[in-house]
Amino acid sequence: MNLSDRDKQYIWHPFTQHQADKGAIAIVRGEGALLFDENGKEYIDAISSWWTNLFGHANPHIAQKIKEQVDVLEHVIFAGFTHQPAVELSEKLIRILPENQSKVFFSDNGSTCVEVALKMAIQFWHNTGIQKKKVIAFKNAYHGDTFGSMSVGARGVFNEPFESFLFDVEFIELPSKENFEQVLQRFTDLIQNKDVAVFIFEPLIQGSAGMLMYEAEYLDQLIKLAQENSVICVADEVMTGFGRTGKNFACDHLQNKPDIFCLSKGITGGFLPLGVTTCTQKIYEAFLSEDAKKTFFHGHSYTGNPLACTAGNASIELLQSSEKLLKDLVVLQKKMSEGLRKNAKVENLRQLGTIVAFDIQTNKGNGYFNDIKSSIYNNFIERGILLRPLGNTVYIMPPYIITLDQLQKVYMEIEEVLNML
Ligand SMILES: Cc1ncc(COP(=O)(O)O)c(C=O)c1O
Repeated sequence: MNLSDRDKQYIWHPFTQHQADKGAIAIVRGEGALLFDENGKEYIDAISSWWTNLFGHANPHIAQKIKEQVDVLEHVIFAGFTHQPAVELSEKLIRILPENQSKVFFSDNGSTCVEVALKMAIQFWHNTGIQKKKVIAFKNAYHGDTFGSMSVGARGVFNEPFESFLFDVEFIELPSKENFEQVLQRFTDLIQNKDVAVFIFEPLIQGSAGMLMYEAEYLDQLIKLAQENSVICVADEVMTGFGRTGKNFACDHLQNKPDIFCLSKGITGGFLPLGVTTCTQKIYEAFLSEDAKKTFFHGHSYTGNPLACTAGNASIELLQSSEKLLKDLVVLQKKMSEGLRKNAKVENLRQLGTIVAFDIQTNKGNGYFNDIKSSIYNNFIERGILLRPLGNTVYIMPPYIITLDQLQKVYMEIEEVLNML
């Protein structure tokens, strides 16, 4: 039996309706932007394997560093203990994050670093003895699949069975030129009630919502207003961190810096699971007390895993020497996507840094459940391209090291698939 068939016997895959499922493609090897399956077929990973991979599969620098660390220390409890890779990673992160960031808390993935951020913000107010309960988030947001992160995300098919278990959140529209005045007014009304504890957002781009982009100047104004009214601002940079938007962090495009950052995905260059939540000194200090009840009682078994931290250190080293690589990819993405503008099926072509997205014109409306998704996904796969449309939204978010030829092939295949529709 091949791997795909053996997989079917026992494995339940994420975001997969197994009733109609054709089975998983078994990948046996990766190199650069390429993945190779068990039959020798190759695929260009044009979505960086769920937005995690920055410097290519099996990147030799990251792989070597992990190999060295494996023989030294694989893991150690992180309460009461520490180690070189975690210390080094925290120093590196604080150096590249905005200046107001001061402390680093480790967890395991995007959802958990958001949970940590929410719990930190809520307990900050609890520890300070100030009653604040309200949470503000953007409509269509996605922050993960655990209960807290689901609560601050869009309500819909994905979390319908759990809806009555999710906490209340005030959702505001994503700001645009057309609606900003109303958004600002509603935000002001909510905030002036004094009971808003936290405002959480995906800065400049809502990934899972369909790569919806919005302007830095609007977010800047909202953050400013929130901070003037003592609301903790949480930037979920799980997708946008580590160069995706053309700068280290999406918040580097802003004047006003959020109080808490959530980081994951690209943090290890796509090698190992790791979540990080960073915060200001002021937030950290609200947890310092003779009173044990003010402790932040949160931690996972693999918190601060040395191998994951080592991958993080190696990936940040690459990021710091990749300024030109990133700039070139941003320019290439712009140049190549321009060709799509002429295609009558393409709507709302947009770009933020290394990310390009567009909507396919259908008469079924925009959204995740637009059924064009599965047919074009399969079509791309047959052509050796891993693109995973969000409904009728196609996005191209490749590893930064994708070659010119590979990127050209991605765009050529997109054109061909669109022309068949
Ligand atoms: C902005 C954002 N936050 C959080 C998450 C959740 O991350 P994870 O899938 O690692 O739990 C995601 C995942 O796509 C995300 O895009």
